[in-house]
Amino acid sequence: MSPARIRPSLPGLAGAEPGSAQALIPDQPTLPGLQAAAARCQACDLYKTGTQTVFGDGTPHAKVMFVGEQPGDREDIEGKPFVGPAGRLLDDGLRAAGIDRNQVYITNAVKHFKWKPQGKRRLHQKPNAAEITACRPWLDAEIALVKPHIVVCLGATAAQALLGRDFRVTLQRGQFIERPGLPLMMATVHPSSILRAPDDESRELEMQAFVADLKRLAKRIEG
Ligand code: URA
Ligand code: SF4
Repeated sequence: MSPARIRPSLPGLAGAEPGSAQALIPDQPTLPGLQAAAARCQACDLYKTGTQTVFGDGTPHAKVMFVGEQPGDREDIEGKPFVGPAGRLLDDGLRAAGIDRNQVYITNAVKHFKWKPQGKRRLHQKPNAAEITACRPWLDAEIALVKPHIVVCLGATAAQALLGRDFRVTLQRGQFIERPGLPLMMATVHPSSILRAPDDESRELEMQAFVADLKRLAKRIEG
């Protein structure tokens, strides 16, 4: 028997196009249904190294959806997005801008943690274009179900996935962008980039700029 035939059959994976999660999207998706389907996704190799699929989390019909890059070490263990150090920084930013984390929906462009060993630590690795493309149907389905008024891309990976390879966060951060087929879009830096600032002073400045972007967002949601 060929190896393919002795592999246990995974419901929903039959006929799946290699390199895309599209065939796994349920016909009549709900958020819990999507999450359950994503839990068994093998559309790219990251399922092999990630502990679990880290699906989006938050208010089902949130006005604002935040999209990060991919789960980190902590998220991979806990199974929820932005619960590690970057998540704490996001929480600080939201609080400073007067946005309630319980009122938003938070997800990632890629739903498994990509890492390589470095000593005893697991070192974050950027997802590549094929992995981002493979995972995209989950994000599109989340956007279609949550129907946020505004989607905020946190960092270049999310921004380039949703706004195109030419998008530059450094030049266009904080702007509201209209694109056909998408909710109103905005991009800002990834909270991890603030954590990586070389010294306290630049970290403080970067945090202020992040909070300024989030305040523009808060104003837009209210208005
Ligand atoms: N960084 C991300 O992009 N997403 C997370 O969920 C955590 C860290
Ligand atoms: Fe599927 Fe995305 Fe995980 Fe790849 S990263 S296996 S596409 S859920």
